[in-house]
Amino acid sequence: MYDTEVIWWFSNKSTESRAQTCFRKPREQLTMSDLVRTDLAEYAPASNLLFNEHIRDLIQSGRNIYHFAFGQSPFPVVESAVQALKDHAGENAYLPVAGLKQLRQAICDFHQKYDGFDDVDPEDIIVGPGSKELIYLVMHVFNGDVIVVSPSWTTYKPQARLAHHIPFVLETNLDNAWKLTPRLINEFVEKNKMKKNRLLILNNPDNPTGTSYSEQELQELSGAFRKHNIIVLSDEIYSRIRYDQNHVSLAKFYPERTIISTGLSKWASAGGWRLGYHMYPKQLSDLRKAVRSAASHTYTSAPSPVQYAATEMFQNLDVCDDYIKHCSRILDAVGSYCYWELTSVGVKAVKPTAGYYIFPDFEVIKENLKRRGFKTCEEMCAVMLDECGVAVMAGGPAFLRPVDELTTRLCYVPFDGGNALAYSRSLGLGTELPENFVKDYCTPVYNGIQALKNWVLDQKKH
Ligand SMILES: Cc1ncc(COP(=O)(O)O)c(C=O)c1O
Repeated sequence: MYDTEVIWWFSNKSTESRAQTCFRKPREQLTMSDLVRTDLAEYAPASNLLFNEHIRDLIQSGRNIYHFAFGQSPFPVVESAVQALKDHAGENAYLPVAGLKQLRQAICDFHQKYDGFDDVDPEDIIVGPGSKELIYLVMHVFNGDVIVVSPSWTTYKPQARLAHHIPFVLETNLDNAWKLTPRLINEFVEKNKMKKNRLLILNNPDNPTGTSYSEQELQELSGAFRKHNIIVLSDEIYSRIRYDQNHVSLAKFYPERTIISTGLSKWASAGGWRLGYHMYPKQLSDLRKAVRSAASHTYTSAPSPVQYAATEMFQNLDVCDDYIKHCSRILDAVGSYCYWELTSVGVKAVKPTAGYYIFPDFEVIKENLKRRGFKTCEEMCAVMLDECGVAVMAGGPAFLRPVDELTTRLCYVPFDGGNALAYSRSLGLGTELPENFVKDYCTPVYNGIQALKNWVLDQKKH
């Protein structure tokens, strides 16, 4: 009884009174500090998931909403993988904690093809129920300081806090396309007193900004990481859907201290399958073993049918390759459209190079909104939703940005990916997508961006 009540209350801070009427009142009212670690006093559930629920409620109540607030692949899973999952539905045994051996071998082959990694050993890999869980476990067992980059994916910092770290935040800026540079790293290390061991979480390609690092940038960064003894957890989950198919892993230049984190959720559109993995360098095998041990005491092993199906998927590289290229070029077309339309009315953003996010900054209407009484990013997003039906996620603290900076994360995925994919395939990769592709095949994105653009122009009149 207490457990249910606490969990419910915990995830709905603002609705405490409802919780009390929904559940039998405990004899003695328990306070937050009685129940929850005091360092988690401000801990809240993943903000994107809650906001998504709010939008769904609005949609169910009949509102026409352009839902750009939740990022998951618009495409169906590769057909052959769906069949493989059906075929293996009867697999009910627990698998090795680090994952099925043949899956780990298939993962090595996959990365040999795409990243040119010749020396990954299946022993260096841990498979888990999503890379999110594995990232959390690394932070949990790591003895040292954790560094997160601003802006960054909404989960890294809360995970670090859950894992008992007070993470250091390394700021980047829009003028530099939200990228780290050796100078930023050097200044940061000089300014902050940190422990000997440091773990930096790098997201390349990046959610929320859509940026990717070039080969030269990574080479330069690796010098700074090496100089300052920084282990890098390189979250490369969007690497296969880099539009130019030219992803370079940090491990190419900094193999000895790079942990690669990735999985099926993005390129294979299989987020709900919950399959991710980490690849460790031999030099960090103690860390890998500690994560494997933590895994054995928490999730045991990733789901068996999914591991068997994923093995077949990785072994079928030609099908994967075709699918990846079609999805990437569709996302490229949609991302470019969003970028050009929004920047045409003065909104600032970096042109997305991968994934399905753009991180627009609405600074251009800041003074106009202020005159209307809207000062923070959250206030802007609320009025935007109200007036033009466009739902984007506010930047602000969730992305480690200041509350009065008008950055937002826009996920350009609300379109029928199956239909767009079928059309792209019907053309073949040799023929370019036509100019009206986004308007005709990604219509909700097209209309939503037009609505947003007009709303920005309207604000300028205030
Ligand atoms: C940057 C980043 N890393 C990791 C993940 C988690 O992926 P998984 O589904 O493998 O847990 C996500 C998912 O949204 C993400 O955006």
